Amino acid sequence: MEPLRVHITAYGCQMNRLDATLADDLLRAAGARVVDDPASANVLVFLTCSVRAHAEDRAFSNIGALAERKTREPGLVIGLVGCTAQQYGPEVWQRAPLVDFICAPGRLADLSDLVREARAGRRSIALDPARGKEEPEAFGESDARLDAVEVRGRHRVGRSRQAFVRAMRGCDMFCSYCVVPNVRGPERSRSPAAVAEEVQRLVDRGVREVTLLGQAINRYRFDQPGRAWDLADLLEKVAGTPGLARLRFITSHPKAMTARLASAFRDVPLLCPHLHMPAQSGSDAVLERMNRGYTAAEYAQRVAMVREAAPQVAVASDFIVGFPGETGEDFEATLDLVRRMRFASGFVFKYSPRPGTRAARRYPDDVPQKEKVRRHRELLDLLGEIAAQDNQAFIGREMTVLVEGPAPRPWLNARAGQTCRPNGAVALPANPPGFVPKNRDYSGAGQSAISGRRGDRNLPAIALRSLGEAGATAGPQWRGRTPCHRLVVFDGPAGLAGEEVRVRVERAGPITLFATLFQSTI
Ligand code: 5AD
Ligand code: SF4
Repeated sequence: MEPLRVHITAYGCQMNRLDATLADDLLRAAGARVVDDPASANVLVFLTCSVRAHAEDRAFSNIGALAERKTREPGLVIGLVGCTAQQYGPEVWQRAPLVDFICAPGRLADLSDLVREARAGRRSIALDPARGKEEPEAFGESDARLDAVEVRGRHRVGRSRQAFVRAMRGCDMFCSYCVVPNVRGPERSRSPAAVAEEVQRLVDRGVREVTLLGQAINRYRFDQPGRAWDLADLLEKVAGTPGLARLRFITSHPKAMTARLASAFRDVPLLCPHLHMPAQSGSDAVLERMNRGYTAAEYAQRVAMVREAAPQVAVASDFIVGFPGETGEDFEATLDLVRRMRFASGFVFKYSPRPGTRAARRYPDDVPQKEKVRRHRELLDLLGEIAAQDNQAFIGREMTVLVEGPAPRPWLNARAGQTCRPNGAVALPANPPGFVPKNRDYSGAGQSAISGRRGDRNLPAIALRSLGEAGATAGPQWRGRTPCHRLVVFDGPAGLAGEEVRVRVERAGPITLFATLFQSTI
């Protein structure tokens, strides 16, 4: 039989990107070659996202577009993996008959078996248990298999020397709009020993920055005889990894924010001052229907608690606009929260009703699309305006930057993309504030960000091999991140990817700080 040549396309969030690296590892271990070009692959794996309809539609339409190729190459294997697999199960075949195998996120360890079956001409499917009474024990065996793969595998370290490590799986928050609890199962925390071992192995292979992942990661809890671990404990343990330079964690739920975790920003030196804590809305009535479990005032109080412990923390948020029943007044309340919180960055999504969620069952999707688009734009503009103002404070400052890779010009090029006024304010002539021109074509996704790195949670499709390395050629312009996760662009010599450098900020836009390099190794 022809040797395996696999291409992996991932949609959606950071968890999916991590699953993509796992899939890559697993298939390599099974003797496959992972290729960049889908045209040269004989197995195409689609790591799907179900959070919004758009991501799902894209995956299905990309699969549908393979009809002609599949007729030409009957041996071509197509796998639909991830959240959409669990969401629809065997119904996937009704919508996408070209699919040969279906694999839920928790069953990734079965991937090579599924590929083998498909190559033998048999359709196959591996699903997680449906959410029911037997959980989370029902996930014990598959989690243990995945844990073993995660700890041992994934040792290909990209040039940016950043890695994601799962601290938790699943979610129990049941926000009314969200499919994640249905498709990724109940909340389970990995043992501190497994997380720490994985981090150590990654650092041994050159990783400098680790981001711990969990849907509501500040609910991390691991009970051992005589000791209960929370996220602050885990951060402290992981921060002790020799050779690690930076530690982050995403995403935090406001309801689970504690003073103890807030003080970790002050007390754990490696912990980056960056908190992604989605507010989703500033209206109490909407928050209630979203089942978020806090009011806008409580959200503000959690932010104040963090800022009191560590004033330098950059707070980032997600928002959903056009949630059912969101009135003009509700939306005003969101704008008001944004004005008060002064977020460093934010992602804005248009509400998308998802099958199987409480919101889809109970509340009609009654905000007209045009109004969703308008609110989306207005909120992004406000976030951009505030970030642009606050970023001015960085001008003249010296900062440490971990270089992620070449800046994919001209989208972040000071000269080509933005014009700077004498007062330092940045005008974006062709594009509204906060918009990354390169990703314009994704604007229809019902999502946008002003964080400068859409891929954080939203990049609709990524070719696995180019993760974190946008723009393959080393140019004179580099892109990196400050500890507070602000994007910095600067000119420098070749070979800086993965290095920590010192820069001085010269100009600042809503997303990007433009800097000059003055020390290239620390
Ligand atoms: N519609 C729109 N946005 C959603 N999100 C989650 N579910 C939906 C939905 N049904 C957003 C939330 C979450 C982010 C990952 O995606 O803002 O924080
Ligand atoms: Fe979805 Fe809410 Fe869980 Fe986040 S916390 S994954 S929005 S249910």
